[in-house]
Amino acid sequence: KTLQPTTIIIFGATGDLAKRKLFPAFYNLYIDGRMPKGFNIVALGRADNTEEYFKTYIKENLESFSRKKVTAGDWAGFQAHITYFQHQLDEEKSYQDLHEKLDKFDTVYGTRGNRLFYLSIGPNFVSTISNHIKNTSLASDPQKDRIIIEKPFGHNKQSAIELNSLLAETFEEEQIYRIDHYLGKETVQNILAFRFGNSIFEPLWDRHHIESVQITVAEEVGVETRGSFYEQTGALRDMIQNHLLQILCMVAMEPPASLESGEIRDRKVDVLKAIRRISPETVDQYAVRGQYGKGTINGVKVKGYRQEDGIAENSNTETFAAVNFYLDNERWQDVPFYVRTGKKMKEKHSYITIQFKPLPHSTFSESSQLLSANKLIINIQPLMDIRLQFMTKMPGLSLDLKPVEMIFDYFACQENTPEAYETLLLDALLGDLTLFMRSDQVEEAWDVVKTIQEAWENSKDSSFPNYDAGSWGPEDSFTMVERQGHTWA
Ligand code: BG6
Repeated sequence: KTLQPTTIIIFGATGDLAKRKLFPAFYNLYIDGRMPKGFNIVALGRADNTEEYFKTYIKENLESFSRKKVTAGDWAGFQAHITYFQHQLDEEKSYQDLHEKLDKFDTVYGTRGNRLFYLSIGPNFVSTISNHIKNTSLASDPQKDRIIIEKPFGHNKQSAIELNSLLAETFEEEQIYRIDHYLGKETVQNILAFRFGNSIFEPLWDRHHIESVQITVAEEVGVETRGSFYEQTGALRDMIQNHLLQILCMVAMEPPASLESGEIRDRKVDVLKAIRRISPETVDQYAVRGQYGKGTINGVKVKGYRQEDGIAENSNTETFAAVNFYLDNERWQDVPFYVRTGKKMKEKHSYITIQFKPLPHSTFSESSQLLSANKLIINIQPLMDIRLQFMTKMPGLSLDLKPVEMIFDYFACQENTPEAYETLLLDALLGDLTLFMRSDQVEEAWDVVKTIQEAWENSKDSSFPNYDAGSWGPEDSFTMVERQGHTWA
């Protein structure tokens, strides 16, 4: 696949995501010589900004968020590709004006370039924008035009189905790039390489050898400036339905026959279909929610969720969620998959723990804990490594054992790791769908969390806040795992 001249149209270009992730990613790709020869970024925003003002704002943010240095020369080259355009999301006239503008760019190129629409806006606007794009024929070439849509895709299964059919009126499935930036992370992509590029792990990768799988995505940050968005969303929708389920799919999927995008996406859908649906009556047994109260993180006192800007005083939104999933298939029957995520937790740490089964009999008969010491830990961030824990003899005259770790450190072999958004934006520019969500994946993922979502929506949790900022989440999350004889690793 090769890069074609492309006009990138960003809806919501003055928003948080654009400044923190999108512009830095485009800038870094540009510095690396990975942008197409002809490209234009048309930044759309509601405000009547001058181009100069907008560019200064982008430059300042690049200085904070780009992983590459912003030198005068590089910036001069990059900024020439940016245009700011005032635009009202819900006015047809704005789209007609945009159409004219894009046509002018095409004249400059001499040919009609690709168009990549990036919807960096809340899920409520997707249908409005898609309708206007259709009515004004902005994306009239299925071979050249693409649309990237941020998560969450819809707010439940029904709305995702409706959104998919609405998008299908304007775009073919192959033109739709539903983004989940966790799939662009190096350490997440490496799960496939680790599992299917080696012969020694896969034979152990099943219910006969694995006791449990744990996936933790703990964040130190709170809701920052996104209070009103987060109030409507909560941890289950914001993180579990997408990022955590996608990681689970990478860990649990069957080997794909090839790296072809349809093949990999099929294998992931198989996993989502195999996840046992939690019945409404058992939601409390298999899922735990939490909301942080005030506490201390890294020695600094912080507010509780209900005291944050834009949050209701009696908010019932969960900032923590933990779920115990099971997969009904040959490979994973009866193996618990524990997933948890939360905001304002003790530390930022995302990792996967594969706990292997204990020895059936130990020749060394130490404590039972030692018998189950074999673990594989895949650190996603900020640590980026893989650790294999196993037992060794302690040096000395007696035959005592201790657990040790063999570590592969990502940083040691790959300096300057690209950011997830760089990988994903480059893929979208190239037309590679592998790391993006297909319509059935998104719908199936909503189906997996449906009963939990409904149960939580229909009943308030009177114990909120139920964990202190700076902790590892509510007590119930520990109890859920301990009930099965396990502990969070
Ligand atoms: C986003 C969520 O998708 O992922 C945020 O909406 C969350 O709430 C973020 O903070 C976490 O991403 P990362 O890459 O910082 O782990």
